[in-house]
Amino acid sequence: MQDLEQIQQDANALFQSIDNLAELDQAKARFLGKQGVLAAAMRTLGSVPAEERPALGVRINQAKDAVEQALRARREAIQAAQLESQLRAEALDVTLPGRGLGRGGEHPVTRTLERIEGLFHSLGFDVAEGPEIETDFYNFTALNIPQDHPARAMHDTFYVDAAHLLRTHTSPVQIRYMQAHEPPLKVIAPGRVYRCDSDVTHTPMFHQVEGLWVDEQVDFSALKGLLAEFMQRFFEQDDLKVRFRPSFFPFTEPSAEMDIACVICRGAGCRVCSHTGWLEVLGCGMVHPEVFRHVGVDSERYLGFAFGLGVERLAMLRYGVNDLRLFFENDLRFLAQFN
Ligand code: DAH
Repeated sequence: MQDLEQIQQDANALFQSIDNLAELDQAKARFLGKQGVLAAAMRTLGSVPAEERPALGVRINQAKDAVEQALRARREAIQAAQLESQLRAEALDVTLPGRGLGRGGEHPVTRTLERIEGLFHSLGFDVAEGPEIETDFYNFTALNIPQDHPARAMHDTFYVDAAHLLRTHTSPVQIRYMQAHEPPLKVIAPGRVYRCDSDVTHTPMFHQVEGLWVDEQVDFSALKGLLAEFMQRFFEQDDLKVRFRPSFFPFTEPSAEMDIACVICRGAGCRVCSHTGWLEVLGCGMVHPEVFRHVGVDSERYLGFAFGLGVERLAMLRYGVNDLRLFFENDLRFLAQFN
C-alpha cells in the first residue's frame, strides 16, 4: 500500500518535470505500460493471501486511475503552454499601419496614348491598328514613296528581310484601313514605330498616332479646325494659338507642319521652344491623289486629310519631361511620379 502511494508520488513528480509530449509518452510507458510499475504490481496479486487480494486489487486500480489522471492533467497543461507560446510567436499588432502593396501605374506614354485616343474618339474617330512588321508596299510605295525616292533615305529603316521592315511610321495603317473600308471614314491609328536612330531626342522605337478623314466635303479648313480643337483639349488651354507652315510629305498635297504656341511659356520664348514661342507638333496635309489611286478611292469624288503626330513629344510637353530617354529607362523613381 505504501509502495502504491510512493508510485503515485513518483509519477506525479516525473510528469511535472516534463514539458514536452514526447517525453511524457515515455514517462507514461514507465508507469502504465505493459512492462510498467503498475502492471508489475498487478502481477504480485497472485502471491498475496486471498482475503487481502480484493482490497489490494481496488487499491492498485485507484493508483492507476490517479496516475492516468495526473498524466492527463499534465498533457493538457503542456498542450495549453504550447498553444500559448505559438499564439505569442504569431501575434499580430493589428494597430500597426499597413505596409502598402506598391501599386503599379500606367506608363506616361500609355496614358498619353489613351488621352489622345479618348479625345479623337469624342471627335468622332474610330481607332484602328496595323502590323509593326510591314511590307515595303504599305510603308512606302502605296504612300507615294516609290523605290529610289529620296524620302526613303530619311526614314532610317530597320529591314527584317528583303521584303519586310519595321514600320517607320503609322501612315501604312491609312492604306490598310482604306483597303478594308469604304469612305466616308474617320480613323486614327496609334502604335509603335521604329527608326534606326538614337540620341537625346530620338529613340529606336517610339509612338505615333496617324489620323485620316476621308469624305466628299472635307477640306483644309476642316483639318485646321479639328487639329486646333484637339491641341486645345489635349493641353487644356482653350486659347492655345496654332499655326500651319507649308511643308512636304510625299503622301499629302498640300502638306503642312502644325505648330502650337509654346505650352510652357505661352509664346513668350523659353528653352523648350528655343526662344521662338512655337512648338512643332505634327505633320499633316490633304491626301495625295496617288495614295487614293493605290487603294481605289475615287479622288474626283472624295477628299481626305491626314496627319501624324509623335506621342512622346506630346507626353514630354504635357508632363514637362526634358529627356525622351527617361520614358524608356524604366526607372521607377521617374515612373512613379505619374501614378
Ligand atoms: N508619317 C509622317 C512621319 O512619320 C508623319 C505624317 C505627316 C503623317 C503628314 C501624315 C501626314 O499622315 O499627312 O514623319
